[in-house]
Amino acid sequence: MDDPLSEDLLCRPGCILGHKVIVKQETYSTNDDAHELGRTTAPFGTVVTAEFQTKGRGRLSRSWHSPAGKNLLFSVLLSVDAARQGPGLLTLAAGIAVARALLARGVDSAIKWPNDVRTRGCKLAGILCEATEKYLVAGIGINVNQTAEEMPAELAATATSLFMETGKNWDRPALFKDVLALLEQELIKIEQGRQNKVLETWMEFSEVSGKRVRAHTPGGVIEGLACGVRPDGALLIRTGNGEQAVMAGDVEVLGKADDASIPESRG
Ligand code: BTN
Repeated sequence: MDDPLSEDLLCRPGCILGHKVIVKQETYSTNDDAHELGRTTAPFGTVVTAEFQTKGRGRLSRSWHSPAGKNLLFSVLLSVDAARQGPGLLTLAAGIAVARALLARGVDSAIKWPNDVRTRGCKLAGILCEATEKYLVAGIGINVNQTAEEMPAELAATATSLFMETGKNWDRPALFKDVLALLEQELIKIEQGRQNKVLETWMEFSEVSGKRVRAHTPGGVIEGLACGVRPDGALLIRTGNGEQAVMAGDVEVLGKADDASIPESRG
């Protein structure tokens, strides 16, 4: 186990995000804990983190695995204003924050819509934003000091960590605070009505923009050119039937843009 996380090391006094940090050794899911805080009207910007989750969850009912004491697992309680934007834009904003923090540590990071932060095509971090009418929870998992041996066999080919990419151990509290500071910057843009700035930055980090993609959505498969994101976080795909917005699902990159070969979507 790395040096244990502590409230003293993680707290960001006077800041919007992380002015209060709750550290748990083990919990079900930090997203559940943040929902509990939201229901009991804890101050917005409170963050809950854990060394280990017994029921860590990801998008589309997937689970999130992380060995004890190696990575970062945390959830931020966000305000009604942020919640009004819906979880989509916040997911994009959190992706930007994580990608920037990893880039600052020398790892070339890109975002695969909507929430995978990846390097060399392998997932290093994931984001799960969940909204209610009263508050929003942004859950972030980053593989920091996890070794290849600690990676479950089924993820060995598709997941990585900062340690696996750089060969060194990283200071988890410093990374945690950087991500919160970078997310705070994006939230301020959203609050100021500059959502377009967030979308533009996201497009710069996006692995899918300008590429031919196949989206597996609850309503069927959509193939075409990924041409943008909407303020609600939907991915825009230009197909033979016009532009379609994808709100949920998984996206595969098929190749570089080639308008001539955009097929009709299969519903
Ligand atoms: C995904 O990639 O599908 C999203 C993964 C999100 C994982 C984080 S870990 C901290 C927080 N608590 C959870 O149960 N999930 C998020």
